[in-house]
Amino acid sequence: MVIRMHEVREIALGVHWVGVRDWDRRLFDSLIPLPAGTTYNSYLVSGRDKLVLIDTVNPGFEGELKAKLEQIGSWGKLDYVVMNHAEPDHAGGLPFVLEGNPRAKVLLTAKGAKMAKVLFALPDDRMTVVKDGDSIDLGGKTLRFIEAPFLHWPETMFTYLEEDQVLFPCDFFGAHHAAGVFADEVEDLLVYAKKYFGEIMMPFSKSGRQGLAKLEGLKIGMIAPSHGPMHRDPKPILSAYMSWTAGETTAKVTICYATMWQATKAMVDVFAQTLMQEGVYVSVYDLTVSDLSSIAGDLVDSKGIVLAAPTVLGGLHPLALHAANVVKVIRPPAKFAVVLSSYGWGGGAVKQALEVLGPTKIEALGAVDVNGYPTKEDLKKVEDLARKMAQRVKEA
Ligand code: FEO
Repeated sequence: MVIRMHEVREIALGVHWVGVRDWDRRLFDSLIPLPAGTTYNSYLVSGRDKLVLIDTVNPGFEGELKAKLEQIGSWGKLDYVVMNHAEPDHAGGLPFVLEGNPRAKVLLTAKGAKMAKVLFALPDDRMTVVKDGDSIDLGGKTLRFIEAPFLHWPETMFTYLEEDQVLFPCDFFGAHHAAGVFADEVEDLLVYAKKYFGEIMMPFSKSGRQGLAKLEGLKIGMIAPSHGPMHRDPKPILSAYMSWTAGETTAKVTICYATMWQATKAMVDVFAQTLMQEGVYVSVYDLTVSDLSSIAGDLVDSKGIVLAAPTVLGGLHPLALHAANVVKVIRPPAKFAVVLSSYGWGGGAVKQALEVLGPTKIEALGAVDVNGYPTKEDLKKVEDLARKMAQRVKEA
């Protein structure tokens, strides 16, 4: 008989990673592409007296979590389960874990308790509400709870293991990547972390700054997030988050376009080349083949955005309308926008683009709207607008 050993990693003395790898997941929230899959990280902290599981796993992986805890002799013996965040990819396994661990209580924020009732029908007698600064003694190991709301739901909190200086921040500092145990083992991990920040945390940058402020003075030896590998050297990810949550931008422009008969594309080419000649870093995305996570990643530090698309049925091409709406809701720190468009017999795309971006803090520097294919004169206007954007982007 073959006995299957499940992957369990001791990341600090008495602290085990018992999470799962979802190599095949390609989409999150029916929206966000996950080209490298993801993990749902769950951690077992073993004190002399108490056993605590920090976060569970996505529904469908409960059996794997159970097998891992059985392998290290902890299934059925849990005293507590910490719910840092109520989203089902971390809390969806709670009913299963509570059923198999009859004395376990869930430690969570007051808002978390309300959500756990609604989402998972957790009974009151299985939940213990904790407040900011509360701690629990496990026997030689102390867990302290740090409320960090809106990272990225209202109930979120961090858990800090004092003796081992391990921070469990759930989604904050995460990355959608299924490989590796530690961040330094994964090539380009910071690129994935940046995309993840752009998709999930950028709309909550202010809460992110507040969350980081709460960590000031805390000795952090390791960051163990709920997605992706752990940071045994926390400095790179902390430094990146300081910059990203502060909305620091560079002389960079992200161009998103859709084209039907290459008229809009001809303008994009001139605009991008002019920007690059002016020394501006440019990323160009054809919306028919580009993934949203890469665009979100580039928008984390772009100072300019260009939306380019033809008029279709009196408005923006639907792919560009979707992109404009996404830009509006993820709230990138960009300062300047330009719209490029073309139409056959009646416009409408530019007006709609400006309406969507209007409520943002992004300043519209101008638009070029062309009937049919751009003439030499039209392309000169495109070039002039690109130079104007280059100047503003470099001086801002
Ligand atoms: Fe990974 Fe907000 O859940």
